[in-house]
Amino acid sequence: MKTYKIACIPGDGIGKEVIPAGQTVLEALAATQDAFRFEFTSYGWGGDWYGQHGEMMPADGLDSLRDKDAILFGSAGDPQIPDHVTLWGLRLKICQGFDQYANVRPTRILPGIDAPLKRCRPEDLDWVIVRENSEGEYAGVGGRAHQGHPIEVATDVSMMTRAGVERIMRYAFKLAQSRPRKLLTVVTKSNAQRHAMVMWDEIALQISREFPDVKWDKELVDAATARMVNRPASLDTLVATNLHADILSDLAAALAGSLGIAPTGNIDPERRYPSMFEPIHGSAFDIMGKGLANPVGTFWSCVMLLEHLGETQAARSLMAAVEQVTADPALHTGDLGGKATTVQVTDAVCGRIRGSGAGAKAA
Ligand code: IPM
Ligand code: MG
Repeated sequence: MKTYKIACIPGDGIGKEVIPAGQTVLEALAATQDAFRFEFTSYGWGGDWYGQHGEMMPADGLDSLRDKDAILFGSAGDPQIPDHVTLWGLRLKICQGFDQYANVRPTRILPGIDAPLKRCRPEDLDWVIVRENSEGEYAGVGGRAHQGHPIEVATDVSMMTRAGVERIMRYAFKLAQSRPRKLLTVVTKSNAQRHAMVMWDEIALQISREFPDVKWDKELVDAATARMVNRPASLDTLVATNLHADILSDLAAALAGSLGIAPTGNIDPERRYPSMFEPIHGSAFDIMGKGLANPVGTFWSCVMLLEHLGETQAARSLMAAVEQVTADPALHTGDLGGKATTVQVTDAVCGRIRGSGAGAKAA
């Protein structure tokens, strides 16, 4: 029997509620079959750790994650600590330290979810946003001078490298090629940003030649937002820069019904390092500790984790269980207009996993 070593980093806010829920459904799934099991290690990094140690995670923290098969991450964000400190001290430290350069964000309208667009049928919205996750606007290049003086200056420079753009384009074309419609939209802003984004476009064209069977087009990021609302079915796979995709993925999640549902994978496609899976919703301090958080974003992230490990059948079983649960409005949490608690949704998903006999347990 295979053992997968999973690092769990609940982080802050509702991360502490949804990550244990994710662990529970993964355990339930493992119990239905004999092919694999999980060995979880939890790390108490985040805002509380910062309060005690003055840093979000230990300086050598990456070393203890390195031998894991995957990381399940909750959220980083604490009202007591500036956001850029929590972000750079934990999540980005892992993403950039492990060169998880492809951030993958699938969006669909799950069964039972009342999505806000009037004319959008569930089958019209089936997207995957590929976010460049290692450079661009999040490269951390910039600085401040003359602080506190009237001539104070500050810059955040978006930095793109040919190698960085080539690898994310290749990843996106490959992903588009693996999906039934083989359709890729390259999101750009090369009309206004005439250096890096022009190179981005040139590299998209260059890489497209490696994928003659993929249909692709280009869309300016502002126009892309309107197209997502007005013609959702015209999109399938999208690739965009770090910041553009950050914004588009929130729009995508909202159009699919709730930020509480949306998953992410921070992927190292070369598998030199563990990849990291997380719900996109953030720490949500307003509802933390009340048991109201929607664990579905974490469960869907667990589906992506299983896919990454090559456990396709288990991934399918978990997604099917999640969809059976979202289909029942009595099992919707507050973000979906319901009254269900984190524990009720988690129990229901575990019940569906057991009920379906998700895998064949040998006698
Ligand atoms: C996301 C989040 C983060 C980001 C925040 C928490 C800094 O919005 O994962 O999309 O912008 O990358
Ligand atoms: Mg975001």
